[in-house]
Amino acid sequence: MSTDSPVLRCFDSNCRQWLELDYPDMTCPHCGGLLEIELPALDCAAAELKTRFRERKVSNNALDVSGVWRFREFLPLPSSQLGQVVTMGEGNTPLLSAPRSAAYAGLDELLIKHLGWNPTGSFKDYGMTVAVSRARILGARSVACASTGNTSASMAAYAAQAGMSAVVFIPQGQVAYGKLAQSLEFGAHTLQIDGNFDVALNLLRELSVEAGLYLVNSINPFRIEGQKTALFELLEQLEWNPPDRIVLPGGNLGNVSAFGKALREARESGLIERVPSLLLIQAAGAAPFARMVRERHKALQAWPHPSTLATAIKIGNPVSWQKALEALRMSEGHSVAVTEQEIADAKAILGRDGIGCEPASATTLAGVRNLRRQGMIAATERVVLILTGHQSKDAEYTVAYHQGELKSKTPGDEGLIEPRFGNRPIRVAARKTDILAALATLLDNREGKRE
Ligand code: F0G
Repeated sequence: MSTDSPVLRCFDSNCRQWLELDYPDMTCPHCGGLLEIELPALDCAAAELKTRFRERKVSNNALDVSGVWRFREFLPLPSSQLGQVVTMGEGNTPLLSAPRSAAYAGLDELLIKHLGWNPTGSFKDYGMTVAVSRARILGARSVACASTGNTSASMAAYAAQAGMSAVVFIPQGQVAYGKLAQSLEFGAHTLQIDGNFDVALNLLRELSVEAGLYLVNSINPFRIEGQKTALFELLEQLEWNPPDRIVLPGGNLGNVSAFGKALREARESGLIERVPSLLLIQAAGAAPFARMVRERHKALQAWPHPSTLATAIKIGNPVSWQKALEALRMSEGHSVAVTEQEIADAKAILGRDGIGCEPASATTLAGVRNLRRQGMIAATERVVLILTGHQSKDAEYTVAYHQGELKSKTPGDEGLIEPRFGNRPIRVAARKTDILAALATLLDNREGKRE
């Protein structure tokens, strides 16, 4: 098989079958394993690549404006196809400092890469621009995904931009309103399936070819290629000087797989010399991968009834677990789970740094805090948290927490979540004197807390 253009390869270590890039299915015809794109070796020195990436930042070309296509040397589209790219100026997300969150975690310093500051409010846009561009190149008329809400919002938007129809499978009653609203508004055919995410994805995988739907879940290797660029962007923001740890939330495990691949390629192409360690955090009620790592199992055992208020990562049978395991192995990473109370508190603490996110993203801070307390991370380590979704995606959760009304239904972890860092709204009569009195108490208290 020629290696001067991108090819597909089965990821299963016992198979490793090569396939043409145009192979139409999402899994290996020989063993059913996941596929991965192998890019040809770059004939460009690392210093030259870094200069190109930087120069594109001042260009107004739509591909250069995109934080994904700016790194197109690492994407599997030949230049002849770049005219068909569907982009919404995705990526370009900031690196923020978070001193209160750092103190909460017991770290000297903490950096936040907020992928939720994307066109549709989640990291999914990094991958979706590539997957939907690929769909357009193949002449697909309809794209489809099963989703806990963010993939569907992203796919719906990019499909609308491309003039394609979009079909969404979402678990009935388990998707945050901000996300459902996006899918509806962007015109996606939204099927609410009576079952959880794993059930919805299995059904879609069974019927997508028959129904003529181009699947854009993260089993689609083009999605993974796009998601890699979030890591390139981060490394560039750090002047190609990698941190010690990169911390991500884990659900279906596509993102950690993409980060693993990106780190491998960044090192092989000489962009970085050292690989940071990837830490993957799951919610304790939906943690089949963290359990597999903890108990050193060789294969993932599905979790039949995943349960967490962080609905984005309420997933019991993550498809990309093998790729995720490889990402942790090559980066000497680790995976742990955190409780519902820990997630909610961590989210409120991030809020005190002025950084909003959805619950799934806050697992990262909670996880780092636990690992720090166990002595697995030193206070001086350079840690970057990857926040994946915007705060507005799940406003109900946030308001419920601050009002002391958030309830966990996770077996073994049921009950009211204590608003330890809650900030209740205050009801005051519409009278100047009452408002001034209320303000005096509030501001006095706040001064007191600062001391
Ligand atoms: N954070 C958010 C906000 C997510 O929406 C997801 C996944 C994850 C983390 C986990 O990422 O699956 O790559 O491990 N959301 C998918 C969806 C499943 O359908 O929107 P992962």
